[in-house]
Amino acid sequence: MKKITIAIDGYSSCGKSTMAKDLAREIGYIYIDSGAMYRAVTLYCLENGLFTPEGIDTNRLEAELPNIRISFQLNPSTLRPMTYLNGENVEDRIRSMEVSSHVSPVAALPFVREALVKQQQEMGKAKGIVMDGRDIGTVVFPDAELKIFVTASAEIRAQRRYDELKAKGQEASFEEILRNVKERDYIDQNRPVSPLRQAEDAILLDNSHLTIEEQKQWLKERFEEAAKE
Ligand code: DC
Repeated sequence: MKKITIAIDGYSSCGKSTMAKDLAREIGYIYIDSGAMYRAVTLYCLENGLFTPEGIDTNRLEAELPNIRISFQLNPSTLRPMTYLNGENVEDRIRSMEVSSHVSPVAALPFVREALVKQQQEMGKAKGIVMDGRDIGTVVFPDAELKIFVTASAEIRAQRRYDELKAKGQEASFEEILRNVKERDYIDQNRPVSPLRQAEDAILLDNSHLTIEEQKQWLKERFEEAAKE
């Protein structure tokens, strides 16, 4: 089997990360959640007063971006990657509703995308990587050997995120989450820079009615086909 690059793109909360993480662990590849990087920059903005009543202070953000260090470390007990922002574990904080509802405008800033895409391409230089996001198959790794585009209905995705937050004991309202999911779909698809779209050579997966186990199996088969010598 050859070492390949796997790009998994799709709508928010459609289970991309779960399937990407599980596959990477099973086949011994590096897993990178590119959304976590946009979330970490957003958390930085929230915690450092960069969201002002007039919008994001882009001058300050651009000046401070080189000092925002994002890295990933495996949690030794769960073997799941944890996101670090300037050396601090922010994995839980970047998943909050507050970050979810502020991330889209940050991810739409061209200088933020340029900096993060560069880091992502660096991480994937040696192949053997599974990366998920919105523009991985179109912008970050246009030559990826395997590209998947994942989708599911907005209601099903909102329900999954609701269950996830509840399980962590965080406050959540289904209506608010559904609104957030739809709003992010709209912004992700309509922003001028790197809008969410399916790459021409990506395989479409609608997982609305698949179990995690079924989709895991489906992805493993696609990997085996793509990595065949
Ligand atoms: O996948 P997620 O919900 O954790 O992503 C958070 C936000 O980051 C989402 O609103 C879209 C944005 N994003 C992006 O623009 N490009 C990526 N490659 C990954 C995420």
